[in-house]
Amino acid sequence: MDKQADLKRIADLRKIIDYHNKRYYQQDAPEISDAEYDRLMKELQDLEDHYPEKHSAESPTQRVGAAPLVKFASFNHPSPMFSLANAFSNEEIIEFDGRIKRLAGVNNISYIAEPKLDGLAVNLIYENGIFTRGATRGDGTTGEDVTQNLKTISSLPLKMKKSDVKTIPEFIEIRGEVYIQKEPFHKLNLRRMKEGEEPFANPRNAAAGSLRQLDSKITSRRPLNIFLYGVGNVRGIVFSNHWEVLQTLSGWGFPVNSLIKPADNILSCIEYFENISTQRENLPYEIDGVVLKVNDLALQAALGNVSRSPRWALACKFPAAQATTTIKDIIVGVGRMGTLTPVAIMEPVNVGGVMVSRATLHNEDEVLKKDVRVGDTVVIQRAGDVIPEVVKVILEKRTGKEKEFKMPGKCPECNSDVVRLEGEVAHRCVNISCPAQLKEHIRHFASRGAMDIEGLGEKVSAQLFDAKLITDPADLYFLSKDQLVALDRQAEKSAQNLIEAISKSKKPPLDKFIYALGIRHVGERTAKLLAAHFGSMENLMAAQIEDLTAINEIGPEIAASILEFFHEHKNIDVMKKFNNAGVTPQKKEITGNAPWRGKSFVFTGTMDSMSRNDAKAIVENLGGTIHSSVTKSTTYVVAGSDPGSKLEKAKSSGIKIISEEDFLKLAGR
Ligand code: IVH
Repeated sequence: MDKQADLKRIADLRKIIDYHNKRYYQQDAPEISDAEYDRLMKELQDLEDHYPEKHSAESPTQRVGAAPLVKFASFNHPSPMFSLANAFSNEEIIEFDGRIKRLAGVNNISYIAEPKLDGLAVNLIYENGIFTRGATRGDGTTGEDVTQNLKTISSLPLKMKKSDVKTIPEFIEIRGEVYIQKEPFHKLNLRRMKEGEEPFANPRNAAAGSLRQLDSKITSRRPLNIFLYGVGNVRGIVFSNHWEVLQTLSGWGFPVNSLIKPADNILSCIEYFENISTQRENLPYEIDGVVLKVNDLALQAALGNVSRSPRWALACKFPAAQATTTIKDIIVGVGRMGTLTPVAIMEPVNVGGVMVSRATLHNEDEVLKKDVRVGDTVVIQRAGDVIPEVVKVILEKRTGKEKEFKMPGKCPECNSDVVRLEGEVAHRCVNISCPAQLKEHIRHFASRGAMDIEGLGEKVSAQLFDAKLITDPADLYFLSKDQLVALDRQAEKSAQNLIEAISKSKKPPLDKFIYALGIRHVGERTAKLLAAHFGSMENLMAAQIEDLTAINEIGPEIAASILEFFHEHKNIDVMKKFNNAGVTPQKKEITGNAPWRGKSFVFTGTMDSMSRNDAKAIVENLGGTIHSSVTKSTTYVVAGSDPGSKLEKAKSSGIKIISEEDFLKLAGR
């Protein structure tokens, strides 16, 4: 074989395939058939196999080529992926700015304004410029490893381009949004319908469905695109503002939305929002609002987060999509906590691209306030992922035949009494063994964000319960395959899979287990705080009210609910049953929400990338303290340029001395 000629062919094929990828994905104008494309890819793959030393992370073969997966691996994000607080009016935007000014103690803030893409968030890891791993957002801490599928996105560089502005960092997390443009989305749906498949409801669902395909070959034929808009942990370089981050990403070859603009003050942000609103229809991709971000990264760090959203960013949402339909019935559902929720069953209607046939009416007061009756014509709305709700009744359409709603006096599931506790809007079923509550409880226990037991959805939970095989979640661990096979429609194979999935869930992360228990007021976030603070189930179960309220973010109501849960005999029995079944939540190192608790820092000399105030904010945000002089209890002395006598003191006392760069690394920046 002529090696020279082969190597040239490798280089040519890479260029030819890149060109056809662009024609297919970006310009939506393929010039060759799929079969011809596959032939070129195969030729390149064969040549690369023959010359492994010519392997390149940038080769188009790296974008497809992995065998289908059975399940995605989970991926722990090195730094958490937050979500955004929403604003629906100019007043809320002004309030956001006011809050930041107050906290920062300044009277003007510069922002970066960005279109809010309607796709799904991803986190990409690049090590020394090479794309190594990528994942979906998941719950913000853990996502799904979709590396192979991300590689199929032709506009995503597998290797960062060198740029004059910044060197390529040793490690960087890059955040962005995977989406599908409107036109390719319609074509994809036409193709699906021709092939007898269900069309996707909207581009966002199509993007999510495509990225979460176990077979990356399927993903590679979906018109996925990506925009990058931020970074997480970075090692090796330092950024000082968000604009610089975006410019750098673009310089490295990442697609960055060209409509992103700096805005000198909040009024420019509002103007930007109005301007983008008028362009929305004509954009080739869907957006659902505008995101405002404080430009100064040190200020971002100082502002920190509230719950899962940063204080320094805001999603300004376009008004919710609305539609008109009629109410066929109002039914009552019973939730995990026994709450009765009225639900409107409607004539199906398309609301902003999604077919909707149910809307929550929240509670009886809400039904009465809005005066919603069966037979009414109503306006409903849907904003983002929120469950659709009834906005108002169109009274002019009333005929007089409409029927008023009344909350039933007995639980629709178990016929027990329904009560409304003082001070609460909710009606509850009094029976703690109400089948509806228990079924819901088991479904919650097995759900994705909780124990994540595959194959144990709503239907199977209800089936197991109705067959009296289980009455609480701990019973799951005593089920046998034969019992499952005896159940309706549980084939041998799926019974085996379910038993394995249940058994695999015996060592859950502590926070997932706490969340799975379904303690009132304990959502995913609170469960994480409890796990980090107590470290084990034993500690949590022994906690007193003061131990619980000592945790930032846990108030008396949540604390009382946790205490009540672990005092209830039935729950104590269930906990024992878990123990007997060998369910052992994994202990966690106790960090509290302050990984630097107990650490003290002394700064000396001039810092290049931050003011003393910024440094203070970083330390305090992580729970540490700053002192002005070196003592025996100082943990670190951070030395900038021209350090003073504190450095000498640290040296002579054997205190650990670190550079500004080390400090930032330590802080995960
Ligand atoms: S920044 C802490 N920028 O909106 C900052 N998010 O509601 C987190 N999104 O999960 C994200 N366009 O999926 C940011 N230009 C943009 C965005 C954007 C769309 C999505 C993203 C995020 C969600 C939060």
